[in-house]
Amino acid sequence: SEHALELMSDREPKTLEELNAIIAAAGPPVPGATQAVFGEGPEHADIAFVGEQPGDQEDRLGRPFVGPAGKLFDKALREAGIDRAEAYLTNAVKHFKFEQRGHRRIHAKPSAGEVKRERPWLMKELELARPKLVVALGGTAVLALTGKSTPISRSRGRARFGPYQGYITVHPSYLLRLPDEATKREAYEAFLSDLRHIHDLAR
Ligand code: URA
Repeated sequence: SEHALELMSDREPKTLEELNAIIAAAGPPVPGATQAVFGEGPEHADIAFVGEQPGDQEDRLGRPFVGPAGKLFDKALREAGIDRAEAYLTNAVKHFKFEQRGHRRIHAKPSAGEVKRERPWLMKELELARPKLVVALGGTAVLALTGKSTPISRSRGRARFGPYQGYITVHPSYLLRLPDEATKREAYEAFLSDLRHIHDLAR
């Protein structure tokens, strides 16, 4: 976090483009990522969604939420009546962290230290993007947005993230990891219900 704050005070970014240049120049907190994956979407969006970190596909393509979790997220957004193109999508951490297993790159959770290091960037990003409502998708986003780690089961629903009206829900990749179809379906319906609530709150 010292590193991020230093870079920030050197040259306070005035636009998302300037912020992204600083993020790109700083590089990943741990080696491996192909590129930084920046937030995507319009400024002044009704809703900003904050995920954890880019996955394998996102790292290759340089865009957030384009892999398996992103596909499920797209489907849920459509079903909840939220236009993805009108929302702002970003991640708590801007680089893919992974463990190499053969030719597969397995997602590795960013540490609390890595989340804290990139936190000033996320805060600046939101300040510049100025969304109406900020949605934390999963625990890493909650940690990044509040500085505290709270189980989703206890914090789910409406929240406040500093100056922002907030909402806490699960991460779409959590839905993919559930063991059986019935549990999956139930968790997906609960996620949809959160998204519909979010849609209502933001308009
Ligand atoms: N999971 C995330 O949190 N973000 C992405 O961009 C993709 C998967």
